[in-house]
Amino acid sequence: MNASQHHAMDTLAGHYLLEVPRDELTTSVRRGCHLDLEQAFGRRAPLAIEIGSGVGDSLTAMSVVRPEFNVLAFEVYAPAIASTMGKLDRAGARNVRLISADGAEGLRELIAPGTLAELWTFFPDPWPKKRHHKRRLVQPEFAALVASRLVEGGAWRMATDWASYAEQMHRVCDGTPGLVNAYADHPGGWAPRPDRPVTRFERRGLDAGRTVRDLVYRRAASR
Ligand SMILES: C[S@@+](CC[C@H](N)C(=O)[O-])C[C@H]1O[C@@H](n2cnc3c(N)ncnc32)[C@H](O)[C@@H]1O
Repeated sequence: MNASQHHAMDTLAGHYLLEVPRDELTTSVRRGCHLDLEQAFGRRAPLAIEIGSGVGDSLTAMSVVRPEFNVLAFEVYAPAIASTMGKLDRAGARNVRLISADGAEGLRELIAPGTLAELWTFFPDPWPKKRHHKRRLVQPEFAALVASRLVEGGAWRMATDWASYAEQMHRVCDGTPGLVNAYADHPGGWAPRPDRPVTRFERRGLDAGRTVRDLVYRRAASR
């Protein structure tokens, strides 16, 4: 971490960073552990989660205009967490907490079924080589977990600049019981761009001539 990231860790972690019990890996979330979200946020409010918040540009912009939400972000890369805390602080976004851990494990262990209002996964690692596609976050097992955690009508917002990953997101979500494409009647089933800013990763994709796709799936009403 650089000096400003160290400074952010020293001064801001007390407000923003949540510690969780771990298994062996430092980015793991211990099986069966519990987190009191009401206590962590100091209030009860609808919960939004971002997985893979990177340096926090979308997280900051989207949280500051949603003060009515508790926003929880998972990011595995510690220097990015530190940069994010600095941005949140400068923007005055107090409704956010960060966990330095694998978001899929966090979702599974820390979030009760049927309690999540929104999930954001923007530009998850694309793993562009075919033999690495199995490492992608959006897989049938993960989508089933998301469907189980969302409240009825809750939204899973995704974005990617990799065509094959965008197709995979559609395929996986369309095949997941309980998830419905909120924009099925739009061309290609793609969603309009939400209020996320253009991040470094999106800019890189655009500069390389790739098309950015947004998707929104909602938890269907009947379980
Ligand atoms: C390509 S970057 C995109 C960052 C950000 N969402 C954006 O749009 O700029 C993907 C980020 O997800 C993080 N990441 C990947 N897998 C993760 C996981 N399972 N849990 C939490 N973070 C993860 C990476 O460390 C990286 O910062």
